[in-house]
Amino acid sequence: MKTFYITTAIDYVNGSPHLGHAYEKVLTDVIARFRRMMGDQVYFLTGVDEHGQKVQQSARKRGIEPQQFVDEVSQEFRALCTKLDISNDDFIRTTEERHKQVVRQVLQQLFDKGEIYKAEYKGFYSTRQEQFLQDKDRNPDGSWPELYGEVTEITETNYFFKLRSYQDWLIDFLKANESFVFPRYRQKQVLEFLSEPLNDLCISRPRERLEWGIPLPFDDGFVTYVWFDALLTYYSAVVDRPGLWPADFHVIGKDILVPPHAVYWPIMLKAAGIEPPKSLLAHGWWSINGAKMSKSTGNFVEPGEFVDTYGVDALRYFMIREMSVGQDSDFSLNQFLARYNGELANNLGNLVNRTLNMTNRFSAGIIPAAATDGAPEEALRALWTKTREEVIPLCEGFQFHIALERTFAFITATNAYIELRAPWKLGKSATPEDAALLKTSLATMAEALRLGAALLTAVMPSTVRKINGVLGHEAGAVWSDELAWGARLTGRTVAATAILFPKPTT
Ligand code: MSP
Repeated sequence: MKTFYITTAIDYVNGSPHLGHAYEKVLTDVIARFRRMMGDQVYFLTGVDEHGQKVQQSARKRGIEPQQFVDEVSQEFRALCTKLDISNDDFIRTTEERHKQVVRQVLQQLFDKGEIYKAEYKGFYSTRQEQFLQDKDRNPDGSWPELYGEVTEITETNYFFKLRSYQDWLIDFLKANESFVFPRYRQKQVLEFLSEPLNDLCISRPRERLEWGIPLPFDDGFVTYVWFDALLTYYSAVVDRPGLWPADFHVIGKDILVPPHAVYWPIMLKAAGIEPPKSLLAHGWWSINGAKMSKSTGNFVEPGEFVDTYGVDALRYFMIREMSVGQDSDFSLNQFLARYNGELANNLGNLVNRTLNMTNRFSAGIIPAAATDGAPEEALRALWTKTREEVIPLCEGFQFHIALERTFAFITATNAYIELRAPWKLGKSATPEDAALLKTSLATMAEALRLGAALLTAVMPSTVRKINGVLGHEAGAVWSDELAWGARLTGRTVAATAILFPKPTT
């Protein structure tokens, strides 16, 4: 069995989880579930980034110790994973000993090899980004971009990692691995960044400025720079699990591709003699109502509350259907409700209701065997074959939004098939031809529903379980076997009713 190791970024715990965190977890979960369905042995890691200045400051603001603070906030991130039906195998925290041990080992090894040196640095520093800045980071008018917050000039002795000496290696690596970054156009951004000489990376912060971090193993007057610490979780989480490294995908947002994931991370690994990851997937960003999400202005969606109101699969579906992986999208309640009502309730939900109603009304709740075969059945089966053949490669290429669009086109076609056959009329007719057609239409709609639902498994796992449940069907262990059009449901008893997407109460 092929192993497939996939991670999300690890989230800062200086605030509560938001929609961006939720999206990344859901996207990664959809990929993980899809790979499992395709037969891979998947290992899925997520977690939290607990060290650094931002966390220390947030804890101070609350008047508590950083450890107590991260213990509390990490729980919210863990709870979010449960709430979003995320199928992660592990949840790592950077404050865990298993992780800190690996960070110390890697640092010591790089120090011993002469890859890390001590030097005095004078320059500009952004506390908000926990990053040293250079003149090229300035706006054309000389000011600092807003994202850096307050920028101060400091002189400090620190430890530096020899990033520059790996610049040529990284350029060659990227040229030899053209699909290292998905989407591909983002790989060009990495090469652009590398067209200028790299500076060595400052990997320490003096204790007097920052307490909350992993002390350097060779000088405990300093703690480790938060990114050097955080990136290593991907490796530390699986160091005792042979066969998983290198990771198949790190799923991250576009903001943390260059330089941390596409430059620091492969170079850190190369210098430490560890294989680089196979690929990075950089997704876009959500805005809300056309503006940047922000708790202070109220332009914010609390993902847990949203799930309480609309259901987990409605949120999962919306995010995956709306966003083309790699590009930005906007979240608005109107757009959400348009898809909720139009696609989930009135299309998929309606198909479920009709199938149950008709089967109960005209066949005592038992799905009959098809008795005839006509052009409408043939057309629907042909559409199924085409849909199935398209959807799998689309999912393999992370084009989930198009895969969902195709799947829903098949569901729409199934509803149209029902309109055409009009079982409610056939059920009132006394002719044997109509009785045969009635059986055929009931069998066909149930089978089409089962198949359409099978294609939704990775995105809406609990809804698909419910649909199978009301059809009296238990999905088998091998997903591809579920995708064959057959008479799988003949003789099954359907449920009386099912409410999958209730009218929202708010
Ligand atoms: N802690 C670092 C990552 C370290 S990985 C070794 C970090 N944390 S974060 O909490 O700021 O962001 C976590 C992830 O959420 C990132 O991949 C980021 O791109 C993503 N998102 C944050 N805001 C987002 C949106 N508005 N939309 C989509 N994803 C966004 O960066």
